[in-house]
Formats: sequence, structure tokens, C-alpha cells
Amino acid sequence: MEFLISEKKVEEIQADCEFVIVIDGNLDHKWIKEKEDLETLSFEGKSEEVAFLPHQHRVYVGADSFDRDEIRLSVAQAVKSIKKSKYNSIKIGIYIDKCPVTNTKAIVEGIILGSYSFDKYKTEKSSCNIQTITISLEDYSEKKLGLAHAKKAIAEAQIVANVTNDAKEIVNSVPDDMTPAQLALEADKIANELDNVACFIGDENFMQEQEMGAFLAVGRASEHKPRLIHLTYKPKNPEAKFVFVGKGVTYDSGGLSLKPSEHMVSMKADKSGAAAAMSILKGAAELELPFEVHAIIGACENMVGGNAYKPDDVLVAKNGKTIEVRNTDAEGRLVLADCLCYAQELKPDYLVDLATLTGACVVAVGDYTTGVMGHSGKLKHEIMSSATKSGELTGSLPFNRYLKKLLKSSVADISNISSSRYGGAITAALFLDNFIEDENKDKWIHLDIAGPAFIEKDWGYNQAGASGAGVRMCLYWLKDHQHKLSNHHKKEA
Ligand code: BES
Ligand code: ZN
Ligand code: ZN
Repeated sequence: MEFLISEKKVEEIQADCEFVIVIDGNLDHKWIKEKEDLETLSFEGKSEEVAFLPHQHRVYVGADSFDRDEIRLSVAQAVKSIKKSKYNSIKIGIYIDKCPVTNTKAIVEGIILGSYSFDKYKTEKSSCNIQTITISLEDYSEKKLGLAHAKKAIAEAQIVANVTNDAKEIVNSVPDDMTPAQLALEADKIANELDNVACFIGDENFMQEQEMGAFLAVGRASEHKPRLIHLTYKPKNPEAKFVFVGKGVTYDSGGLSLKPSEHMVSMKADKSGAAAAMSILKGAAELELPFEVHAIIGACENMVGGNAYKPDDVLVAKNGKTIEVRNTDAEGRLVLADCLCYAQELKPDYLVDLATLTGACVVAVGDYTTGVMGHSGKLKHEIMSSATKSGELTGSLPFNRYLKKLLKSSVADISNISSSRYGGAITAALFLDNFIEDENKDKWIHLDIAGPAFIEKDWGYNQAGASGAGVRMCLYWLKDHQHKLSNHHKKEA
């Protein structure tokens, strides 16, 4: 899919079809040529409303406001309505509102995210026919806003949306294809494609050297051996160091604490945190952000077998803490414990883990929302406001000292499950907190993406299946961080 910029008026641009966004039911804009037809159709220009007029080669879509997610949703609806058509080229005009750059980004993101489909395993491919999208900046030129801004906005939005779709592709891939070794190859591909990106892949021997007793135990029963994947993006003179840690359980059967059949389906998505961390790193490198970024991925399969780890086992994590296993289905936290220890050796300024960690988080905040946890209110606030801009939904879940006590074990330093059935998303995060060094407490954020990472039905501009949860929010957060720094530098100058 190629995006072109034109300063011509929308009506002068050649294309098979035009997308027209109707803002807040206003049918009196110059781009609306079929007001009467729309009125006949009772099209009111409400959010998510679509009117496809094939003879006029126009798709009208409603948006309640210029809110970025309204714009993303509207264009994604437009794409959906013509997905099966033979149209190759599309044109669309950019409204000049308070922030035209924001609108431009939202349009590009909405089109790319909305046009994704997963057909890797279908005999008949259903991919979208759209090849070129011409964006008219007729109003940009009138207002002399400068094309450079628009070009940059389009390029950035393309990166963010494409790496989100990359994450979806990895998560949707079936466990027999996307094994830990294959996930490592995907990471290696990113490093080969990009300057300044390196990939290290550690096998079981490496993990043994690193004394990752918890991570090793989880992967032990699988035929597909675990990998510790470490991607690094290092630009010249980085201004800060960000480390993203991803849960890469390529399949979660539950282990000996086997999941019931209906809960096992879709557990191929238990590698969503890993896919997100890889895409964030790729995005950061493509955006050429001035930060050193690391993605640490614990890739393994949680299976049953004669040498499987068991409830009652006591594991020794990389930091020396002993863990009583009471449920082998609470495996993500064991993998992350060792990966977080490894990550902290890099002395990060910011440490973020992404994981489909608990069903309890889905119970708490619903399918669509990421649970945000951590000690630093400031950091949580930052990431959540960037998430909102990105179109991702978040909710904060609070720590407290009483929940922390529920992880006590009578035989080891800590148990891998809480003694209560309540507050499971938080107790899982508090388990991880045991592996965060004091000096890093305020640098750490835990994102539980168990809900939004994989949903069986279409929602908004997301298709059924993987959504790439975590990718856009973290990339927006990194971008916002960059803005803050450059404003700070300007003030100092
Ligand atoms: N991968 C699951 C969490 C999950 C559940 C992700 C639903 C996506 C959708 C995790 O490993 C798990 O099984 N957690 C258990 C923890 C429990 C045993 C304390 C859970 O949530 O039930
Ligand atoms: Zn599990
Ligand atoms: Zn899991």
C-alpha cells in the first residue's frame, strides 16, 4: 500500500474511489457532492456510519468529531466497505482542523490497520485490492501549512501502523509454526533489515549459564526448546535507555495444571507480549528515535510431559529467589521473573513488560482494555495518556500491601499464585515486583494485555484475532517522550 501526497484539489485527483469523512453530521462541506442521496439514505454522519455510493465512486463515513480515534474508525469503516471491490486507488482530502497533522496520521493509521486481514492459512486470499491512496492537501496549501509536516506525519503513521500489523501476523500464526525458534528467526529478520539493530539469541545452555531456573522450568516439557531473544536498537548518542520485556509463550496449554479445552483455544496468543516488544523495537528503529531500545523476549512453550515442571516444585530464579510452584498455568510470571532480572542488568531508564498475564485482568477491565500497573503514578499517567492518543484503551489497577502478602509461601520465598481468588491481575504484577530491584521500582511499568491482545470478534478497526495490543501505545509514548525532550532542549538553548 502506497501513500501519495497531492496539493491538487480532491476533485482533480484521479482515483477509482473517494473516501469522504463527514464530521458531526455536517453535510454542507465542499467534499460532500451527494447531499440529497445521503439524505435519502437517512445517512446522518454518525460515528461508524457508512454510505457507499458505487455509481459516484464515493464512500461517505461518519465521525462524531476530529478526535483521532473517530477518524481512524471512520476510514477503517470505509476500507471495510470496499474491501471486496476491485478498486485499486483511493483519494481522500485532509480537513484542516486544530491539528491537521493529527488528522493525517489518524487517516493513514486507520486505513492501514483497517485493511489488515489474516489469510496465511486460507487457500483463497482475501487481501485488500487497494494499492495507492492519494492524500489531498488542498487545504494545507491554502493555509500554507507546509508539506514537509504532512509528509513526516504520513511516514510516521505508516511505520506505527505497519509494525502493529506485523505483531498481529506473528500472534495469529499457529503454535506449530511460530515456535520459540521461529520467533527468534523473526527477531533476527528485524535485525537484518535495519541499521543499528542487533539480535542475540540464547538457547537453553545460555539460560542455564544465566541461572534462569524459573524460565527454564516452564519450557522444559516442550519439544520446541526455549529461546531468550534480545534485540537492541542503538542510535548515535542515545538520550535514554528503554527496555521492553515480552512474554513469549508460543503456546500455553497450562502445563500439568492443564487448561480446560474451552480456555485452551486461542492460547497461541500467549506470545502477544513478545510480538509487541519486537514491533515496538522495530518501530523505534524505523522512526529513528534518539533512544537506545531493547526488547527482551522469553520464548517457550508451556506443555505437559514426563519431565514437565510440577505443582510442588521449588524453582530458583536468576536473582536467587526461590519460588514454590502451586499452579503451572501461572507460567508467564515465571518466564518474566528471569527476563526482568536479565533486563535490569542493562541499567534501563525505563523498564516496561508486556504480557498476556492473567484472565483476572480481563475480568477486571474487560476485553478491550490493557491493565496498567506499577509504582510510579507519573509513569502510569504518562503511558496512559499516550495510549489514549494512540487509540488503545488502558485502565490502572492499584497495588497495595495486603495483596502483596497473599503471595507468601510456607516452603519457598514466594508462591507463584495468590492465596485468594480476587485481585489476580494485581497479585500477578506484585509477583513480578519481587524481581524488580529497589533502584528500578519507579522505572517499571507492567502492561497486562490479556484482554485486547486477542479477541474472537471484530471490534472498531481491529479484526477478529490479534490486535497488536501494546505496540501503538508504547510507540506513541516514546514519541511523546522525544517531544518532551526536544522542548526541554529548546528551552535550554
Ligand atoms: N496466559 C494465561 C492468561 C490469559 C488468560 C491470557 C486469558 C489471555 C486470556 C496465563 O498464563 C494464565 O493461565 N493465568 C492464570 C493464572 C492463575 C493460574 C493464577 C489465569 O489467569 O487463570
Ligand atoms: Zn498459563
Ligand atoms: Zn500464559
